[in-house]
Amino acid sequence: MKKIGVLTSGGDAPGMNAAVRAVARAGLSKGMEVIGIERGYVGLLNREFIELNAITVSGIIQRGGTFLYTARCPEFRDMEGVRKGKAVCEEIGLEGLVVIGGDGSFRGAGDLSSLGIPCIGIPGTIDNDIQCTEYTIGYDTAMNTAVEMIEKLRDTSQSHDRCSVVEVMGRRAGFIAVNVALAVGAEAALTLERPYDLKEIAERMKRTTSQKNGKHHFIIVVAEGVGHSEEIAREIEKLTGVESRATVLGHVQRGGAPSVRDRIVATEMGYRAVELLEKGIGNRIIGVKHGEIYDIDIQEGLAMKKPFPDHRYDILEATAY
Ligand code: ADP
Ligand code: F6P
Repeated sequence: MKKIGVLTSGGDAPGMNAAVRAVARAGLSKGMEVIGIERGYVGLLNREFIELNAITVSGIIQRGGTFLYTARCPEFRDMEGVRKGKAVCEEIGLEGLVVIGGDGSFRGAGDLSSLGIPCIGIPGTIDNDIQCTEYTIGYDTAMNTAVEMIEKLRDTSQSHDRCSVVEVMGRRAGFIAVNVALAVGAEAALTLERPYDLKEIAERMKRTTSQKNGKHHFIIVVAEGVGHSEEIAREIEKLTGVESRATVLGHVQRGGAPSVRDRIVATEMGYRAVELLEKGIGNRIIGVKHGEIYDIDIQEGLAMKKPFPDHRYDILEATAY
């Protein structure tokens, strides 16, 4: 291939820039022309292109967000929109496309591949909720940000003998919640994947409050999909007598400089994507399997089910006591 494109799509994630840079630099080193498409599939349909060269991707590896911007493109959910996308690719001579995003973005990439434009998906989302990969770009940075914020909450929470109910991101997945809960030594993680009983959590808290056991603060991590963190805080206060406050961390978790792990995974994935396109291979998602970079057919990857780390709840409960 002599000319390839790269875009970021769906929610942004720290490390997307590192992936774009790797695609651009790897492509250039193989003698390809590399086009950056702004605002995901929206920019493809609207022809929002920038040329990526060694200079335009310089100084972005450490930057959060995505310098290509990102968007959601309802038009691309229909084959009519995808056909228009294919026509634009042909018009400017794009022979392959790298799509950095989540599973919605990969469905679009699969559709475009089925029309003859080879696409490679790179998983970029803080939620780590892509079925065919153990790891998605942005997850590590987002969890580190959440932990940093919760440490600040812990300071004020313990000064007041309070409980902090902290809502972390993850509309459909509790990976961030359960792992962040472990990392901060929380009382509990409330997620959609596992039923919970506030009364049981309250009983555990009552056994260890400052009057009885010298514990001066409690942290309960709630996944965004569970929601109602204000109500949960009120209920906890009612059940335990421990004054409680709710905090929603929100989009702060999506920003910031990518961690070392995110930069490295993004760079490895970007490089692998170009290697595949160079061989004329498309319709693949890059992922991590048993800690190694691999690739899988898009439809096959999207049909997989991701195991949830259930045992981490048991560890959390055992170590929270
Ligand atoms: P993510 O890629 O993070 O899951 P979205 O679900 O918002 O984010 O999807 C991003 C974009 O991918 C959508 O705006 C749309 O352009 C495209 N997309 C989503 N779902 C589909 C689908 N079923 N078929 C084709 N394209 C889709
Ligand atoms: O998928 C990443 C994510 O940050 C989810 O955790 C969250 O629910 C969603 O995106 C928020 O999306 P938006 O940017 O539309 O608010």
